[in-house]
Amino acid sequence: MNDLIQQTAKYLVAARHVVALTGAGISVESGIPPFRGEGGLWEKYDPMEFAHINSFMKNPEKVWKIFMGDMKKVLLAAKPNDAHLGLARLEQLGILKTVITQNVDGLHQMAGNTDVIEFHGNFAWLRCLQCDKRFKTVEVDLSEAPPKCTCGGIFRPECVFFGEMIPPIALTRSQEESSQCDVMLVVGTSALVQPAAFMPVLAQQSGATVIEINPEPTPLTGRISKFLVAGKAGQIMNEILSEVNSLIQSQKQ
Ligand code: OAD
Repeated sequence: MNDLIQQTAKYLVAARHVVALTGAGISVESGIPPFRGEGGLWEKYDPMEFAHINSFMKNPEKVWKIFMGDMKKVLLAAKPNDAHLGLARLEQLGILKTVITQNVDGLHQMAGNTDVIEFHGNFAWLRCLQCDKRFKTVEVDLSEAPPKCTCGGIFRPECVFFGEMIPPIALTRSQEESSQCDVMLVVGTSALVQPAAFMPVLAQQSGATVIEINPEPTPLTGRISKFLVAGKAGQIMNEILSEVNSLIQSQKQ
């Protein structure tokens, strides 16, 4: 058994308030590509051309057709993997309180987590740019790009584009949770995009133990995080859960 898995389990079982910050890496094992690194979306598309609000407003058809055309198939078919299910199990055990996610895929909610802060919004809802009505993405005909509302207006997804503000409630709640937690699990994020990447810094500065799960080191590694458990989120989470269960069992005896 990896010593860092044992240490992580001990921190989790002893904690008073655990928060997880997740990024695209946690959904890789569900078939959703990450943004950076091997096979990442930003290798294929220039984020400023396809994920900036100005590009979307200038040419929604292009953004919907290329970037979102690819994404919607993947997002609408994806299912939670062992890492999402592990975080849901940690909540059921009374250990994990809140998930702050940069992902727009809704997989944490699907896995069973009940307090999920969607830092970059979500793809589950679309909003009409003309009449402001919201519709569930699955209920909208996405065959034409851009999809249109009954009023004739163009739909946008409720995710945050580059150049847009973080939804204020998501930002405020994330700051509160990060400054109040005593353990933060940082799973599958490159920690390169602000202000999300500041949440572990806030947690650490407020006295929390920050633990990363990622196959690669990040700018937080060795500076903000206590340690990095290196590996894929699903497998690592299964090992952590198994150790957490043994610790709980031994405490009962
Ligand atoms: P990134 O694509 O930047 O980083 C993904 C991270 O996941 C990397 O650090 C990988 O090493 C790691 N990773 C890959 N496979 C993994 C696995 N199986 N298990 C665990 N980790 C794995 O994604 P984010 O950090 O989420 O913003 O990116 C942050 C933001 O940048 C996104 O929310 C998006 C993007 O531009 C907006 O769209 C506004």
